[in-house]
Amino acid sequence: IPMLSLSNAFSEEEVSQWYERILDRLDETMIEVVSEPKMDGLAVSLRYEKGQLVLAATRGDGLEGEDVTSNIRTIQAIPLHLRKHAPVHDLEVRGEIFMTRSGFNELNKRLADEGEKLFVNPRNAASGSLRQLDPAITAKRPLRFFAYSVVAEGKEHTTQQQTYEWLKVLGLPINPHITVTTGLKALIKSYAQLMALRDSLDYDIDGVVYKVNRLDQQLELGFVSRAPRWALAHKFPAQEETTKLLGIDVQVGRTGALTPVARLKPVFVGGVTVTNATLHNADEIRRKDIRPGDEVVVRRAGDVIPEVVRAINVNETTRGKPWEMPTHCPECGSAVEQIDDQTVIRCTGGLVCPAQRKRALEHFVSRGAMDIEGLGSQVISQLVDRGDVRTPADLYTLTHDALKSLERMGDKSAQNVLDAIEKSKTVTLEKLLFALGIREVGAVTARSLAQAFGTLQAIQAASIEELEAVADVGPVMAHHIHAFFNEPHNQEVVADLLHQGVRYAPVEAIDNTEKPLLGNTFVLTGRLNKMSRAEAKMALEQQGAKVTSSVSAKTTGVIAGDDPGSKYDKAQALGVTILSEDDLMKLLSGDPAFRLE
Ligand code: IVH
Repeated sequence: IPMLSLSNAFSEEEVSQWYERILDRLDETMIEVVSEPKMDGLAVSLRYEKGQLVLAATRGDGLEGEDVTSNIRTIQAIPLHLRKHAPVHDLEVRGEIFMTRSGFNELNKRLADEGEKLFVNPRNAASGSLRQLDPAITAKRPLRFFAYSVVAEGKEHTTQQQTYEWLKVLGLPINPHITVTTGLKALIKSYAQLMALRDSLDYDIDGVVYKVNRLDQQLELGFVSRAPRWALAHKFPAQEETTKLLGIDVQVGRTGALTPVARLKPVFVGGVTVTNATLHNADEIRRKDIRPGDEVVVRRAGDVIPEVVRAINVNETTRGKPWEMPTHCPECGSAVEQIDDQTVIRCTGGLVCPAQRKRALEHFVSRGAMDIEGLGSQVISQLVDRGDVRTPADLYTLTHDALKSLERMGDKSAQNVLDAIEKSKTVTLEKLLFALGIREVGAVTARSLAQAFGTLQAIQAASIEELEAVADVGPVMAHHIHAFFNEPHNQEVVADLLHQGVRYAPVEAIDNTEKPLLGNTFVLTGRLNKMSRAEAKMALEQQGAKVTSSVSAKTTGVIAGDDPGSKYDKAQALGVTILSEDDLMKLLSGDPAFRLE
């Protein structure tokens, strides 16, 4: 089960919208919500088997992280054996590793005495300490842990609160400032209380996390992309500082998107020194009227990218000219384009543009992709500028001499890079797919695609409809995938990669005969009698169907229980098939007498 992230809210307004949406979806007028501090540390997942700690991993991309078991074992707050292990079999506990402020100050003092580099904030110190190669060093670092979720339980619970009580019984530390609230008012009050408590705590928190208390309601609410619908991070206001805007650079991304970036006089804000900040896009700069040379307010909240908020103390007579987005790509000189009403401006150079090529190659070699060590952005930049490498496939033709002649590359490093390139030829299909850098296709979607189709050829040949039938793949993404594989240049790169000897292990494609409802989309409305809506959703998904919350002409059927809502009316208006609970039972049991229209 992936390690997810949380949706953020920055205002009471947003919290209220979240709360109302949830009431609406659950068809309730009041719900219990757990309110707890949002720890500013790093997430880990701990696996206990028969009560013994056997594995600890960092979050990584949510599916695959680093194995940090030996280091985690040195943290006193984390039990090596659970207290009441008898009824517990396999258990995965997730929580946050952090360093106390006092521990951080002492550590930095010690590092200063030893002439070592200091950490900028407790979070970086926690992260650096956990990633030490030598567990003996981690053992000397004041790391702590609070658990906040369980993914495989050995015991039935009905609420989040009970889960916490149970974790405590097992010997796992739980944050002492967790409360259960009822109603929006109480929720907002809990936020104010934690904010008031913030400075007196010996650890950094950057907001409050709200979680729907009842687990059956969590199940019913489910997830949107990478975050649960049943939880929300209500962030504390960001910290702000002022500094000077030295200039505005334009960066060209992997897909050619031009992003203006502020170059700032270094300023310490939100726990780190900031020298660059995003300006998002040209519209935003115009709207905020920010110009090079201005004194500006810079904001940084927790883990969010720093941003320039506004210019202050402007003197219109001495001020510079408004900034303009270049009409040509600063990297390759191609014209830029703005499609329809999108705010993004893109370089039209495609792979002719060295910047796009460099970003695509950096992505290709990155850890979650082909994982080729030693090919950092400096090396890639030189290889592209010299014309040695144009496409990912060219990496596999590099020679020892070519590598050795690069700046700061010795004999040995060149050989290491060659070895890493050779090693990357054996890869999984999902990593290869992810590495290709298809727009919108992240690691998770790449995995779904690999499992659904089994081979690269099958994905290349898939129609938009077939792609859309894959869980996680929506119409826009299906379009991007289809377009990618139909572009001759991309076909050539894929063929070249295979020709150079890149091979993936065969994937066991999911047997579609076991998924009779693949390609069908259902919507549930009203109360069911034989099962809850959450159970119905799961049963349908297990058979390959998608279950969504809004009815469209593409919906296969709307399953209507008692007192159905507006979705029923919409289904009738659109002429979508309406199924009863009995129909649903027949559908799920594969009753041959029952046929979907
Ligand atoms: S619950 C399925 N609770 O915030 C929900 N997360 O922005 C999983 N975090 O990666 C997260 N304090 O590392 C949860 N009390 C808390 C938390 C918390 C900090 C972190 C966590 C997660 C990140 C998401």
